[in-house]
Amino acid sequence: MLKYAFFDTKPYDKPSFEKYGGEAGVEFRFFETRLTPDTVGLANGFDGVCAFVNDTVNEEVIDGLYRGGVRVLALRCAGYNNVDVHAAFGKIHVVHVPAYSPYAVAEHAMAMLLTIVRRTHKAYIRTKDFNFSLAGLTGFDLHGKTVGVIGTGRIGRVFIDICRGFGMKVVAYDKFPAKESGIDYVSMEELFAQSDIISLHCPLTEETYHTVRAETIAKMKTGVVLVNTSRGALIDAAALLEAIKDRKVGAACLDVYEEESDVFFEDFSGHILEDDTLARLISMPNVLVTSHQAFLTEEALDNIAKTTVENITELQNNGRCQNELCYRCGKIGICRQSRTGKCF
Ligand code: NAI
Repeated sequence: MLKYAFFDTKPYDKPSFEKYGGEAGVEFRFFETRLTPDTVGLANGFDGVCAFVNDTVNEEVIDGLYRGGVRVLALRCAGYNNVDVHAAFGKIHVVHVPAYSPYAVAEHAMAMLLTIVRRTHKAYIRTKDFNFSLAGLTGFDLHGKTVGVIGTGRIGRVFIDICRGFGMKVVAYDKFPAKESGIDYVSMEELFAQSDIISLHCPLTEETYHTVRAETIAKMKTGVVLVNTSRGALIDAAALLEAIKDRKVGAACLDVYEEESDVFFEDFSGHILEDDTLARLISMPNVLVTSHQAFLTEEALDNIAKTTVENITELQNNGRCQNELCYRCGKIGICRQSRTGKCF
């Protein structure tokens, strides 16, 4: 039986991981705490750890895991910007779940967009209070509007299909445009200038950090609606707040937030929120915040657990895994995985 320490456990994680783990001979020990330099000792003696988006997996944590005998980090998410893959190389195998339901995230992006544009978040609260006034609830048609999609991978493309279904014009920017995809690629500058709505679907990298900042917001249409279901730091939150106050940005839908690891996934009702930028953004009538919820569908949770357990057993049985990550993966010429099937 393989033993894995599971960090940042939420009640909705357990059923699917217990089911697939039980079938494959992987026993999960569920810890509610996040993985950090302070909690890394909890993983001593385990074969591996299972971590999520807001766990800290920096060099210090990796060294601590390695000293404690951990040899596999199984991420139950797609993004891995919280992992120092460079430090992990040669010590701990890192596997992730590259795709579990692009529909979950793309549909959530559209749900947020429809909500903010048609003010259903306001209407819900009003009618609960038997207030049937329509004052202030005027929206606009999505049909005929131009949406700019940054990042046309799995999620971006599903979002594009959904937008086309609404009769929207789609323009897109991707560092690596998909050939023969029928997508109308434009430069980032053109996307900013043309789009009524901009939705972010690219990963967080050094290059994409603060894609939306004061300088780029200035190039956008006045009244632009921003949607971010990717990673918080794609948007400079302070600059967004200023642009909302200046009426430059018409609305923002945020499923992710720059400093989300301090607050998202936890219940802070009854507490004083320390983050003034987040508190002010949430107070705006034209800002909708959900707490990294876009992935949360039954289908996605099932796929996440299934793939994570498959990753663990594949690595155990074959010494390699198609979903392994390392700092060299994908880098032509130096990627060992592409030649030998093994990162190290
Ligand atoms: P993907 O890897 O299929 O697509 C990412 C796309 O971004 C690729 O087409 C890639 O070429 C493009 N890209 C890379 N660098 C770029 C750059 N500098 N500028 C523009 N485009 C660039 O990834 P997928 O599955 O579509 O996920 C997208 C993002 O969504 C993930 O990176 C993750 O951060 C986020 N995500 C959020 C979730 C949530 O619950 N809110 C759940 C799952 C993913």
